[in-house]
Amino acid sequence: MTQKRLTTSAGAPIATNQNSLTAGPRGPVLMQDYQLIEKLAHQNRERIAERVVHAKGWGAFGTFRVTNDLTRYTRAHFLSRVGQETEILARFSTVAGEQGAADAERDVRGFAVKFYTEEGNWDMVGNNTPIFFIRDPYKFPDFIRTQKRHPRTNLRSATAMWDFWSQHPESLHQITILMSDRGLPTAPMYMNGYASHTLSFWNDSGERFWIKWHFKTMQGHRHFTNEEAAKVIGDSRESYQEALFGGIENGDYPQWRVFVQIMPEADAEKTPYNPFDLTKVWPHADYPLIEVGVMELNRNADNYFAEIEQAAFSPSNIVPGIGFSPDKMLQGRLFAYADAHRHRLGTHYEALPVNAPKAPVAHYHKDGAMRFFRNDTGNPDAYYEPNSFGGPAEDPGVAEPPLRISGDADRYGNEQEVDDFAQVRDLFNLFDNAQKARLFANIAGAMAGVPKFILDRQLALFEQVSPDYGNGIRKALSETADTNAAG
Ligand code: HEM
Repeated sequence: MTQKRLTTSAGAPIATNQNSLTAGPRGPVLMQDYQLIEKLAHQNRERIAERVVHAKGWGAFGTFRVTNDLTRYTRAHFLSRVGQETEILARFSTVAGEQGAADAERDVRGFAVKFYTEEGNWDMVGNNTPIFFIRDPYKFPDFIRTQKRHPRTNLRSATAMWDFWSQHPESLHQITILMSDRGLPTAPMYMNGYASHTLSFWNDSGERFWIKWHFKTMQGHRHFTNEEAAKVIGDSRESYQEALFGGIENGDYPQWRVFVQIMPEADAEKTPYNPFDLTKVWPHADYPLIEVGVMELNRNADNYFAEIEQAAFSPSNIVPGIGFSPDKMLQGRLFAYADAHRHRLGTHYEALPVNAPKAPVAHYHKDGAMRFFRNDTGNPDAYYEPNSFGGPAEDPGVAEPPLRISGDADRYGNEQEVDDFAQVRDLFNLFDNAQKARLFANIAGAMAGVPKFILDRQLALFEQVSPDYGNGIRKALSETADTNAAG
Protein backbone atom coordinates (compact mmCIF):
# COMPACT_ATOMS: atom_id res chain seq x y z
CA MET A 1 0.00 0.00 0.00
CA THR A 2 1.44 3.38 -0.93
CA GLN A 3 1.02 5.75 1.97
CA LYS A 4 0.11 9.40 1.50
CA ARG A 5 2.70 11.87 2.74
CA LEU A 6 1.69 13.63 5.97
CA THR A 7 1.46 17.39 5.46
CA THR A 8 0.69 20.53 7.41
CA SER A 9 -2.74 22.08 6.85
CA ALA A 10 -0.95 24.39 4.41
CA GLY A 11 0.16 21.36 2.42
CA ALA A 12 3.86 21.21 3.31
CA PRO A 13 5.37 17.76 4.05
CA ILE A 14 6.08 17.02 7.73
CA ALA A 15 9.27 15.31 8.88
CA THR A 16 8.09 14.22 12.33
CA ASN A 17 4.74 14.08 14.08
CA GLN A 18 6.06 12.55 17.31
CA ASN A 19 8.52 14.86 19.09
CA SER A 20 8.29 18.53 19.96
CA LEU A 21 11.15 20.84 19.03
CA THR A 22 13.17 21.45 22.19
CA ALA A 23 16.40 23.08 23.30
CA GLY A 24 18.20 19.94 24.30
CA PRO A 25 16.54 16.60 25.11
CA ARG A 26 15.02 17.93 28.38
CA GLY A 27 13.41 21.04 26.88
CA PRO A 28 12.09 23.67 27.04
CA VAL A 29 9.99 23.74 23.84
CA LEU A 30 10.89 26.33 21.23
CA MET A 31 8.30 28.89 20.19
CA GLN A 32 9.13 28.14 16.58
CA ASP A 33 7.56 24.66 16.82
CA TYR A 34 4.58 26.06 14.99
CA GLN A 35 3.14 22.62 14.14
CA LEU A 36 2.88 21.82 17.87
CA ILE A 37 1.03 25.11 18.42
CA GLU A 38 -1.16 24.42 15.40
CA LYS A 39 -2.04 20.95 16.68
CA LEU A 40 -2.99 22.22 20.15
CA ALA A 41 -4.90 25.20 18.77
CA HIS A 42 -6.93 22.99 16.45
CA GLN A 43 -7.82 20.66 19.27
CA ASN A 44 -9.14 23.62 21.26
CA ARG A 45 -11.55 24.34 18.43
CA GLU A 46 -12.82 20.79 17.81
CA ARG A 47 -16.15 21.30 19.58
CA ILE A 48 -19.06 23.31 18.29
CA ALA A 49 -22.17 24.20 20.26
CA GLU A 50 -24.41 21.19 20.58
CA ARG A 51 -28.03 21.53 19.45
CA VAL A 52 -29.92 23.41 22.19
CA VAL A 53 -32.50 20.59 22.04
CA HIS A 54 -32.19 17.18 20.34
CA ALA A 55 -28.43 17.15 21.03
CA LYS A 56 -28.04 13.36 21.13
CA GLY A 57 -28.75 11.82 17.76
CA TRP A 58 -28.22 8.96 15.33
CA GLY A 59 -28.37 9.34 11.56
CA ALA A 60 -27.99 7.59 8.23
CA PHE A 61 -28.51 8.15 4.52
CA GLY A 62 -30.96 6.36 2.27
CA THR A 63 -33.63 6.68 -0.38
CA PHE A 64 -37.28 7.61 -0.64
CA ARG A 65 -39.27 5.84 -3.39
CA VAL A 66 -42.69 7.02 -4.57
CA THR A 67 -45.33 4.26 -4.57
CA ASN A 68 -48.50 6.25 -5.25
CA ASP A 69 -49.48 9.02 -7.63
CA LEU A 70 -50.34 12.19 -5.69
CA THR A 71 -49.92 14.63 -8.56
CA ARG A 72 -53.53 15.80 -8.21
CA TYR A 73 -52.62 17.17 -4.78
CA THR A 74 -49.06 18.41 -5.24
CA ARG A 75 -46.72 19.59 -7.93
CA ALA A 76 -43.70 18.57 -5.80
CA HIS A 77 -41.24 17.27 -8.36
CA PHE A 78 -39.93 14.45 -6.20
CA LEU A 79 -43.48 13.06 -5.90
CA SER A 80 -44.30 13.37 -9.60
CA ARG A 81 -43.75 9.75 -10.75
CA VAL A 82 -44.36 6.35 -9.19
CA GLY A 83 -40.99 4.64 -8.79
CA GLN A 84 -39.06 7.92 -8.57
CA GLU A 85 -36.25 7.84 -5.98
CA THR A 86 -34.83 10.71 -3.96
CA GLU A 87 -31.73 10.63 -1.77
CA ILE A 88 -32.41 11.32 1.90
CA LEU A 89 -30.64 11.85 5.21
CA ALA A 90 -32.42 10.93 8.44
CA ARG A 91 -31.45 11.95 11.96
CA PHE A 92 -33.22 10.63 15.04
CA SER A 93 -32.67 12.11 18.48
CA THR A 94 -33.81 12.45 22.06
CA VAL A 95 -34.97 15.94 23.03
CA ALA A 96 -33.72 16.80 26.49
CA GLY A 97 -30.44 14.96 26.98
CA GLU A 98 -27.07 16.41 26.09
CA GLN A 99 -24.71 14.88 23.56
CA GLY A 100 -23.41 12.38 26.11
CA ALA A 101 -26.86 11.31 27.31
CA ALA A 102 -27.80 7.63 27.30
CA ASP A 103 -29.82 6.55 24.28
CA ALA A 104 -32.42 4.38 26.03
CA GLU A 105 -33.98 7.19 28.07
CA ARG A 106 -37.71 7.89 28.17
CA ASP A 107 -38.17 10.99 26.03
CA VAL A 108 -39.83 12.10 22.83
CA ARG A 109 -37.70 11.12 19.82
CA GLY A 110 -36.87 13.53 17.01
CA PHE A 111 -37.44 12.16 13.52
CA ALA A 112 -35.88 14.48 10.91
CA VAL A 113 -35.54 13.66 7.22
CA LYS A 114 -33.83 15.76 4.58
CA PHE A 115 -35.03 15.03 1.04
CA TYR A 116 -32.41 16.13 -1.51
CA THR A 117 -34.97 16.77 -4.26
CA GLU A 118 -34.39 18.05 -7.80
CA GLU A 119 -36.03 21.32 -6.79
CA GLY A 120 -34.10 21.85 -3.57
CA ASN A 121 -34.09 20.35 -0.10
CA TRP A 122 -37.31 19.55 1.69
CA ASP A 123 -36.85 18.89 5.41
CA MET A 124 -39.42 16.96 7.40
CA VAL A 125 -38.45 17.84 10.96
CA GLY A 126 -40.81 15.84 13.12
CA ASN A 127 -41.03 13.60 16.14
CA ASN A 128 -42.11 10.04 16.88
CA THR A 129 -45.39 11.49 18.18
CA PRO A 130 -48.21 12.96 16.07
CA ILE A 131 -48.74 15.86 18.50
CA PHE A 132 -46.78 18.07 20.91
CA PHE A 133 -46.93 19.41 24.50
CA ILE A 134 -47.84 23.00 23.66
CA ARG A 135 -49.47 24.93 20.82
CA ASP A 136 -47.86 28.36 21.09
CA PRO A 137 -44.17 29.01 20.31
CA TYR A 138 -44.10 31.73 22.99
CA LYS A 139 -44.06 28.91 25.52
CA PHE A 140 -41.33 26.77 23.94
CA PRO A 141 -38.24 28.20 25.70
CA ASP A 142 -39.97 27.93 29.11
CA PHE A 143 -41.15 24.42 28.38
CA ILE A 144 -37.65 23.32 27.35
CA ARG A 145 -36.19 24.95 30.46
CA THR A 146 -38.33 22.57 32.55
CA GLN A 147 -36.80 19.62 30.71
CA LYS A 148 -33.20 20.72 31.19
CA ARG A 149 -31.05 21.06 34.32
CA HIS A 150 -32.00 23.09 37.41
CA PRO A 151 -29.67 26.10 37.78
CA ARG A 152 -28.64 25.24 41.35
CA THR A 153 -28.69 21.46 41.58
CA ASN A 154 -27.61 21.00 37.95
CA LEU A 155 -30.00 18.05 37.97
CA ARG A 156 -33.17 17.56 35.96
CA SER A 157 -36.20 18.59 37.98
CA ALA A 158 -39.43 16.59 38.12
CA THR A 159 -40.94 19.51 40.03
CA ALA A 160 -40.28 21.91 37.16
CA MET A 161 -41.72 19.49 34.60
CA TRP A 162 -44.97 18.82 36.46
CA ASP A 163 -45.28 22.45 37.57
CA PHE A 164 -45.30 23.45 33.90
CA TRP A 165 -47.40 20.56 32.62
CA SER A 166 -50.01 20.91 35.37
CA GLN A 167 -50.63 24.48 34.18
CA HIS A 168 -51.02 23.37 30.57
CA PRO A 169 -53.85 20.91 29.99
CA GLU A 170 -52.97 20.84 26.30
CA SER A 171 -49.85 18.84 27.26
CA LEU A 172 -51.91 15.85 28.54
CA HIS A 173 -52.03 14.23 25.11
CA GLN A 174 -48.25 14.23 24.65
CA ILE A 175 -47.61 13.29 28.31
CA THR A 176 -49.85 10.26 27.80
CA ILE A 177 -47.87 9.12 24.76
CA LEU A 178 -44.53 9.87 26.42
CA MET A 179 -45.40 7.84 29.53
CA SER A 180 -46.97 4.99 27.54
CA ASP A 181 -45.06 2.13 25.89
CA ARG A 182 -44.45 4.30 22.80
CA GLY A 183 -42.41 6.71 24.96
CA LEU A 184 -39.39 4.39 25.05
CA PRO A 185 -38.68 2.65 21.71
CA THR A 186 -35.83 0.12 21.72
CA ALA A 187 -34.10 1.71 18.70
CA PRO A 188 -34.94 4.25 15.95
CA MET A 189 -35.96 1.50 13.51
CA TYR A 190 -38.87 0.51 15.75
CA MET A 191 -40.75 3.79 15.91
CA ASN A 192 -42.97 5.89 13.67
CA GLY A 193 -42.29 9.45 12.59
CA TYR A 194 -44.72 12.32 12.15
CA ALA A 195 -44.33 15.88 10.88
CA SER A 196 -46.90 16.50 13.65
CA HIS A 197 -47.78 19.94 12.28
CA THR A 198 -50.29 20.46 9.55
CA LEU A 199 -48.37 21.36 6.40
CA SER A 200 -49.76 21.88 2.91
CA PHE A 201 -49.68 20.54 -0.62
CA TRP A 202 -50.52 22.68 -3.63
CA ASN A 203 -50.98 21.52 -7.17
CA ASP A 204 -50.52 22.86 -10.69
CA SER A 205 -54.08 24.21 -10.71
CA GLY A 206 -53.38 26.37 -7.68
CA GLU A 207 -55.45 24.27 -5.26
CA ARG A 208 -54.22 23.91 -1.67
CA PHE A 209 -54.69 20.93 0.66
CA TRP A 210 -53.79 20.70 4.34
CA ILE A 211 -51.77 17.59 5.06
CA LYS A 212 -50.22 15.59 7.86
CA TRP A 213 -47.24 13.29 7.26
CA HIS A 214 -46.92 9.85 8.86
CA PHE A 215 -43.85 7.59 8.57
CA LYS A 216 -44.82 4.10 9.76
CA THR A 217 -42.11 1.69 10.79
CA MET A 218 -42.03 -1.50 8.72
CA GLN A 219 -39.97 -3.25 11.41
CA GLY A 220 -42.89 -3.13 13.88
CA HIS A 221 -42.95 -1.26 17.18
CA ARG A 222 -40.63 -2.38 19.96
CA HIS A 223 -40.38 -0.75 23.37
CA PHE A 224 -38.48 -1.06 26.61
CA THR A 225 -40.10 -0.92 30.01
CA ASN A 226 -38.32 1.45 32.41
CA GLU A 227 -36.70 -1.55 34.10
CA GLU A 228 -35.45 -3.00 30.80
CA ALA A 229 -34.10 0.38 29.76
CA ALA A 230 -32.24 0.81 33.05
CA LYS A 231 -30.49 -2.49 32.42
CA VAL A 232 -29.66 -1.55 28.82
CA ILE A 233 -28.20 1.78 29.96
CA GLY A 234 -26.16 -0.09 32.58
CA ASP A 235 -24.58 -2.06 29.75
CA SER A 236 -24.33 0.65 27.11
CA ARG A 237 -25.21 4.30 26.83
CA GLU A 238 -25.02 4.05 23.02
CA SER A 239 -27.62 1.37 22.33
CA TYR A 240 -29.38 3.30 19.52
CA GLN A 241 -26.16 4.13 17.71
CA GLU A 242 -25.06 0.51 17.97
CA ALA A 243 -28.39 -0.78 16.66
CA LEU A 244 -28.82 1.68 13.78
CA PHE A 245 -25.18 1.85 12.68
CA GLY A 246 -24.57 -1.85 13.22
CA GLY A 247 -27.78 -2.87 11.43
CA ILE A 248 -26.96 -0.83 8.34
CA GLU A 249 -23.35 -2.08 8.31
CA ASN A 250 -24.78 -5.63 8.28
CA GLY A 251 -27.07 -4.87 5.34
CA ASP A 252 -30.19 -4.73 7.48
CA TYR A 253 -31.87 -1.68 5.97
CA PRO A 254 -34.79 -0.26 7.99
CA GLN A 255 -37.83 0.99 6.09
CA TRP A 256 -40.82 3.20 6.78
CA ARG A 257 -44.02 3.34 4.74
CA VAL A 258 -44.91 6.98 4.26
CA PHE A 259 -48.49 8.28 4.28
CA VAL A 260 -50.33 11.59 4.26
CA GLN A 261 -53.70 12.63 5.57
CA ILE A 262 -55.19 15.15 3.17
CA MET A 263 -57.79 17.81 4.02
CA PRO A 264 -59.20 20.10 1.29
CA GLU A 265 -58.35 23.72 2.12
CA ALA A 266 -61.97 24.76 2.72
CA ASP A 267 -62.58 21.97 5.30
CA ALA A 268 -60.43 23.84 7.80
CA GLU A 269 -63.34 26.27 8.25
CA LYS A 270 -65.75 23.51 9.25
CA THR A 271 -63.91 20.90 11.37
CA PRO A 272 -65.13 20.97 14.99
CA TYR A 273 -61.47 21.21 16.07
CA ASN A 274 -58.73 23.57 14.96
CA PRO A 275 -56.80 21.59 12.34
CA PHE A 276 -53.73 23.77 13.01
CA ASP A 277 -53.58 22.93 16.73
CA LEU A 278 -50.38 20.91 17.23
CA THR A 279 -51.78 19.21 20.33
CA LYS A 280 -54.53 17.47 18.34
CA VAL A 281 -54.67 14.70 15.73
CA TRP A 282 -57.07 14.54 12.79
CA PRO A 283 -59.44 11.58 13.04
CA HIS A 284 -58.37 8.93 10.52
CA ALA A 285 -62.04 8.17 9.83
CA ASP A 286 -62.43 11.71 8.41
CA TYR A 287 -59.01 11.94 6.75
CA PRO A 288 -57.65 8.45 6.05
CA LEU A 289 -54.00 7.67 5.48
CA ILE A 290 -53.01 7.78 1.82
CA GLU A 291 -49.77 6.05 0.90
CA VAL A 292 -47.03 8.15 -0.69
CA GLY A 293 -43.90 6.00 -0.71
CA VAL A 294 -41.27 4.05 1.17
CA MET A 295 -38.22 5.42 2.95
CA GLU A 296 -35.18 3.18 3.43
CA LEU A 297 -31.94 3.84 5.28
CA ASN A 298 -29.05 2.01 3.64
CA ARG A 299 -25.82 3.97 4.10
CA ASN A 300 -23.95 5.03 7.20
CA ALA A 301 -22.13 8.33 7.33
CA ASP A 302 -18.39 8.05 6.79
CA ASN A 303 -17.75 10.81 9.29
CA TYR A 304 -20.27 11.35 12.08
CA PHE A 305 -19.27 14.94 12.84
CA ALA A 306 -19.21 16.17 9.24
CA GLU A 307 -22.37 14.46 8.11
CA ILE A 308 -24.64 14.02 11.14
CA GLU A 309 -23.52 16.61 13.70
CA GLN A 310 -23.24 19.31 11.04
CA ALA A 311 -26.55 18.36 9.41
CA ALA A 312 -28.98 21.28 9.56
CA PHE A 313 -32.66 20.39 9.33
CA SER A 314 -35.25 23.14 9.19
CA PRO A 315 -39.04 23.19 8.71
CA SER A 316 -38.42 26.34 6.64
CA ASN A 317 -36.86 24.21 3.88
CA ILE A 318 -39.75 23.54 1.51
CA VAL A 319 -39.98 22.93 -2.23
CA PRO A 320 -42.63 24.03 -4.76
CA GLY A 321 -45.75 21.94 -4.12
CA ILE A 322 -45.22 21.79 -0.35
CA GLY A 323 -46.10 24.72 1.92
CA PHE A 324 -46.55 25.78 5.52
CA SER A 325 -49.79 26.21 7.45
CA PRO A 326 -51.06 28.80 9.95
CA ASP A 327 -50.02 26.52 12.88
CA LYS A 328 -48.49 29.00 15.37
CA MET A 329 -45.85 26.55 16.56
CA LEU A 330 -44.75 25.89 13.00
CA GLN A 331 -44.52 29.63 12.39
CA GLY A 332 -42.19 29.96 15.41
CA ARG A 333 -40.05 27.08 14.16
CA LEU A 334 -39.69 28.69 10.74
CA PHE A 335 -37.53 31.32 12.44
CA ALA A 336 -35.81 29.21 15.09
CA TYR A 337 -33.99 26.54 13.08
CA ALA A 338 -32.06 28.57 10.50
CA ASP A 339 -31.16 30.99 13.30
CA ALA A 340 -29.82 28.07 15.34
CA HIS A 341 -27.84 26.86 12.33
CA ARG A 342 -26.22 30.24 11.72
CA HIS A 343 -25.18 30.25 15.38
CA ARG A 344 -24.19 26.57 15.63
CA LEU A 345 -22.56 26.09 12.22
CA GLY A 346 -21.94 29.53 10.69
CA THR A 347 -23.38 31.78 8.01
CA HIS A 348 -22.73 29.43 5.10
CA TYR A 349 -23.92 26.22 6.78
CA GLU A 350 -26.11 25.42 3.78
CA ALA A 351 -23.03 25.03 1.59
CA LEU A 352 -21.54 22.29 3.79
CA PRO A 353 -21.62 19.06 1.76
CA VAL A 354 -24.26 17.37 3.94
CA ASN A 355 -26.59 20.36 3.72
CA ALA A 356 -25.91 21.39 0.13
CA PRO A 357 -28.81 20.65 -2.21
CA LYS A 358 -28.26 18.27 -5.13
CA ALA A 359 -30.25 20.83 -7.16
CA PRO A 360 -28.35 23.74 -8.74
CA VAL A 361 -27.97 26.68 -6.35
CA ALA A 362 -28.00 30.28 -7.62
CA HIS A 363 -28.53 33.08 -5.12
CA TYR A 364 -27.21 36.58 -4.46
CA HIS A 365 -26.02 36.15 -0.84
CA LYS A 366 -22.43 37.31 -0.74
CA ASP A 367 -19.27 37.11 1.32
CA GLY A 368 -19.16 36.49 5.08
CA ALA A 369 -16.98 34.23 7.20
CA MET A 370 -15.96 30.92 5.60
CA ARG A 371 -17.33 31.70 2.14
CA PHE A 372 -15.55 28.65 0.74
CA PHE A 373 -17.42 28.54 -2.55
CA ARG A 374 -17.63 31.18 -5.27
CA ASN A 375 -19.08 34.40 -3.94
CA ASP A 376 -20.88 35.36 -7.13
CA THR A 377 -23.64 34.01 -9.30
CA GLY A 378 -21.21 32.55 -11.81
CA ASN A 379 -21.22 35.84 -13.66
CA PRO A 380 -19.17 38.65 -12.06
CA ASP A 381 -21.42 41.41 -13.49
CA ALA A 382 -24.56 39.82 -12.07
CA TYR A 383 -24.03 40.50 -8.36
CA TYR A 384 -27.34 42.28 -7.65
CA GLU A 385 -30.88 41.65 -8.77
CA PRO A 386 -32.55 42.56 -11.08
CA ASN A 387 -29.59 42.92 -13.44
CA SER A 388 -29.22 43.14 -17.19
CA PHE A 389 -26.34 40.68 -17.42
CA GLY A 390 -28.05 37.32 -17.43
CA GLY A 391 -27.90 36.60 -13.68
CA PRO A 392 -30.29 34.11 -12.08
CA ALA A 393 -33.89 35.33 -12.30
CA GLU A 394 -37.06 34.56 -10.41
CA ASP A 395 -39.55 32.01 -11.74
CA PRO A 396 -43.19 33.09 -11.27
CA GLY A 397 -44.18 29.56 -12.28
CA VAL A 398 -43.35 28.29 -8.79
CA ALA A 399 -45.49 30.83 -6.91
CA GLU A 400 -47.60 29.30 -4.16
CA PRO A 401 -51.35 30.02 -4.46
CA PRO A 402 -52.42 32.95 -2.24
CA LEU A 403 -53.73 32.11 1.22
CA ARG A 404 -56.66 34.11 2.56
CA ILE A 405 -56.14 35.10 6.18
CA SER A 406 -58.16 37.38 8.41
CA GLY A 407 -58.78 38.14 12.07
CA ASP A 408 -58.06 40.70 14.76
CA ALA A 409 -54.42 40.88 15.86
CA ASP A 410 -54.39 39.75 19.49
CA ARG A 411 -52.66 37.27 21.79
CA TYR A 412 -55.14 34.40 21.84
CA GLY A 413 -54.61 31.98 24.70
CA ASN A 414 -56.21 28.96 26.30
CA GLU A 415 -59.34 30.90 27.15
CA GLN A 416 -60.56 29.86 23.71
CA GLU A 417 -63.07 27.01 23.59
CA VAL A 418 -60.74 24.03 23.18
CA ASP A 419 -61.39 20.53 24.47
CA ASP A 420 -57.98 19.33 25.66
CA PHE A 421 -59.36 16.13 27.15
CA ALA A 422 -61.44 14.26 24.53
CA GLN A 423 -58.57 13.04 22.34
CA VAL A 424 -56.54 12.02 25.40
CA ARG A 425 -59.57 10.05 26.64
CA ASP A 426 -59.83 8.28 23.26
CA LEU A 427 -56.15 7.36 23.43
CA PHE A 428 -56.35 6.23 27.08
CA ASN A 429 -59.33 4.03 26.23
CA LEU A 430 -57.32 2.28 23.52
CA PHE A 431 -54.85 0.93 26.09
CA ASP A 432 -55.46 -2.52 27.59
CA ASN A 433 -55.14 -3.06 31.34
CA ALA A 434 -51.48 -4.00 31.23
CA GLN A 435 -50.66 -0.93 29.13
CA LYS A 436 -52.60 1.25 31.56
CA ALA A 437 -50.77 -0.25 34.53
CA ARG A 438 -47.41 0.57 32.92
CA LEU A 439 -48.66 4.09 32.08
CA PHE A 440 -49.68 4.71 35.72
CA ALA A 441 -46.39 3.33 37.05
CA ASN A 442 -44.31 5.38 34.61
CA ILE A 443 -46.15 8.58 35.54
CA ALA A 444 -45.93 7.88 39.28
CA GLY A 445 -42.22 7.10 38.90
CA ALA A 446 -41.65 10.38 37.05
CA MET A 447 -43.41 12.30 39.85
CA ALA A 448 -40.96 11.41 42.61
CA GLY A 449 -40.22 14.40 44.84
CA VAL A 450 -42.85 16.71 43.32
CA PRO A 451 -44.64 18.92 45.93
CA LYS A 452 -48.19 17.90 46.79
CA PHE A 453 -49.89 21.06 45.50
CA ILE A 454 -48.41 20.42 42.04
CA LEU A 455 -49.37 16.74 42.14
CA ASP A 456 -52.93 17.68 43.10
CA ARG A 457 -53.18 20.16 40.23
CA GLN A 458 -51.89 17.55 37.76
CA LEU A 459 -54.07 14.74 39.14
CA ALA A 460 -57.13 16.95 38.71
CA LEU A 461 -56.26 17.17 35.00
CA PHE A 462 -55.84 13.40 34.64
CA GLU A 463 -59.19 13.00 36.35
CA GLN A 464 -60.83 15.26 33.79
CA VAL A 465 -59.56 12.88 31.11
CA SER A 466 -61.05 9.94 33.00
CA PRO A 467 -61.56 9.10 36.67
CA ASP A 468 -59.82 5.78 35.93
CA TYR A 469 -56.74 7.66 34.74
CA GLY A 470 -56.54 9.82 37.88
CA ASN A 471 -57.27 6.91 40.24
CA GLY A 472 -54.75 4.66 38.53
CA ILE A 473 -52.00 7.22 39.07
CA ARG A 474 -53.06 7.87 42.67
CA LYS A 475 -52.84 4.14 43.38
CA ALA A 476 -49.46 3.86 41.67
CA LEU A 477 -48.23 6.86 43.68
CA SER A 478 -49.29 5.29 46.98
CA GLU A 479 -47.62 2.00 46.00
CA THR A 480 -44.41 3.88 45.20
CA ALA A 481 -44.67 5.63 48.60
CA ASP A 482 -45.24 2.27 50.35
CA THR A 483 -42.22 0.75 48.60
CA ASN A 484 -40.09 3.73 49.61
CA ALA A 485 -41.31 3.55 53.21
CA ALA A 486 -40.65 -0.21 53.34
CA GLY A 487 -37.26 0.21 51.67
C1 HEM B 1 -34.17 20.72 16.95
C2 HEM B 1 -36.43 24.81 18.15
C3 HEM B 1 -40.66 22.47 18.28
C4 HEM B 1 -38.52 18.65 16.26
C5 HEM B 1 -34.42 22.01 17.30
C6 HEM B 1 -33.42 23.03 17.42
C7 HEM B 1 -34.06 24.18 17.74
C8 HEM B 1 -35.46 23.89 17.85
C9 HEM B 1 -33.43 25.56 17.94
C10 HEM B 1 -31.92 22.84 17.20
C11 HEM B 1 -31.63 23.02 15.74
C12 HEM B 1 -30.17 22.84 15.41
O1 HEM B 1 -29.31 23.34 16.14
O2 HEM B 1 -29.88 22.20 14.36
C13 HEM B 1 -37.78 24.54 18.27
C14 HEM B 1 -38.79 25.51 18.57
C15 HEM B 1 -39.99 24.86 18.62
C16 HEM B 1 -39.71 23.46 18.33
C17 HEM B 1 -38.54 27.00 18.78
C18 HEM B 1 -41.37 25.36 18.90
C19 HEM B 1 -41.72 26.61 18.77
C20 HEM B 1 -40.47 21.24 17.70
C21 HEM B 1 -41.50 20.34 17.31
C22 HEM B 1 -40.89 19.27 16.72
C23 HEM B 1 -39.47 19.50 16.76
C24 HEM B 1 -42.99 20.59 17.50
C25 HEM B 1 -41.51 18.05 16.11
C26 HEM B 1 -42.71 18.04 15.56
C27 HEM B 1 -37.17 18.89 16.29
C28 HEM B 1 -36.18 17.93 15.82
C29 HEM B 1 -34.93 18.52 16.01
C30 HEM B 1 -35.17 19.83 16.61
C31 HEM B 1 -36.44 16.55 15.22
C32 HEM B 1 -33.57 17.91 15.71
C33 HEM B 1 -33.26 18.06 14.23
C34 HEM B 1 -31.95 17.38 13.92
O3 HEM B 1 -31.92 16.13 13.97
O4 HEM B 1 -30.97 18.09 13.66
N1 HEM B 1 -35.66 22.56 17.60
N2 HEM B 1 -38.35 23.30 18.13
N3 HEM B 1 -39.24 20.71 17.36
N4 HEM B 1 -36.53 20.01 16.76
FE1 HEM B 1 -37.43 21.63 17.44
